[in-house]
Amino acid sequence: MKNVFADVVVDLQYGDCGKGKVVHHLASSGDYSLVMRFNGGSNAGHTIYHRGKKFVTHLVPAGVFHGIKSVVGGGCVINAEKFLREIDQLEEAGIEASKLVKVCYNAHVTTDRHMEEESSELKIGTTRTGNGPTYRDKHARSGVRAEEIASLNRFLIDPYLALKYEGGTGVALMEGAQGFGLDIDWGDYPYVSSSNCTVAAAVNAGVPPQNIRRVIGVAKPYVTYVGARDFAGNHPALQQLQLVGEEYGATTGRPRQCNWLSVPQLIKGANINGVNTLIFNKTDVMQNVGAYMLFPDWKTENVKEFDNMSDFQEYVEFYLRNACPLLEEIIWSSSPHEI
Ligand code: IMP
Ligand code: MG
Repeated sequence: MKNVFADVVVDLQYGDCGKGKVVHHLASSGDYSLVMRFNGGSNAGHTIYHRGKKFVTHLVPAGVFHGIKSVVGGGCVINAEKFLREIDQLEEAGIEASKLVKVCYNAHVTTDRHMEEESSELKIGTTRTGNGPTYRDKHARSGVRAEEIASLNRFLIDPYLALKYEGGTGVALMEGAQGFGLDIDWGDYPYVSSSNCTVAAAVNAGVPPQNIRRVIGVAKPYVTYVGARDFAGNHPALQQLQLVGEEYGATTGRPRQCNWLSVPQLIKGANINGVNTLIFNKTDVMQNVGAYMLFPDWKTENVKEFDNMSDFQEYVEFYLRNACPLLEEIIWSSSPHEI
């Protein structure tokens, strides 16, 4: 029996913090023999720049771009039609997706009925990709699994074997979707997605908790959210962040509501996930807009303002390092296309 090791990438806010970019970058290191998505479905939109070309993937993990086996985990939900279309699009772009992508037999399937049911959903402001109804049926034990769908047959894999418990070497890179604020248990219920978006879901995908080498948390120096809740702050610089940061949903094209970074929320997400490395993406966006504010505590009427990016960063780092015992490294990075 082999030991299975993994690194896990999770989003600490409301999705859209650049997990796709981080996974794409990590997968190029040659460290990993497998990339596995562990939650969500085609509600996700990962924007990836590969060799100068922009890709938006919804289901296929970012390992494919580097020729690594990429698995849709058992905790995911999959719309077969959309999945097959994504495989074709990647193939057309010269990525060997047919060969590299696998689907765990126990992933649940989003059917036309699930899509239909969500087609006019307004209460939560979902992505209308049938995510909630699919997870509901899974838990009601009336769902359909990937193993029952003929068109998925050639992609099927057993996660136990995929993770190489029975031979082989290598480390799995576990790719999360959505984020801590959208987690069904930890997020701002009911304005959440229907899966667990924390490292717990990666464990449930088949990784022993002791063998997680590193948890990589991804965030932005400001916060965005897409959905029905009133979320946006009214400072004009927040509209600038939306424009400069091109903050539009990768799946639905909806504008992402912007607000300032919540320090306590970030600390909570980092601690619940046991984050070792924290990556802030889109630092360049905040710098281009030139407004440096955050919420130092849970009260949204308390906004703290800084004169420049380095004062902002120093404050954030100080509080994070004091409050997050497992945090070892903080990286300030830029927009996806700038890596
Ligand atoms: P659902 O996941 O489609 O059910 O949507 C529930 C909530 O999560 C809505 O507010 C969506 O906008 C949000 N959401 C779901 N997936 C993503 C994502 O990948 N990025 C950002 N928001 C998401
Ligand atoms: Mg996204």
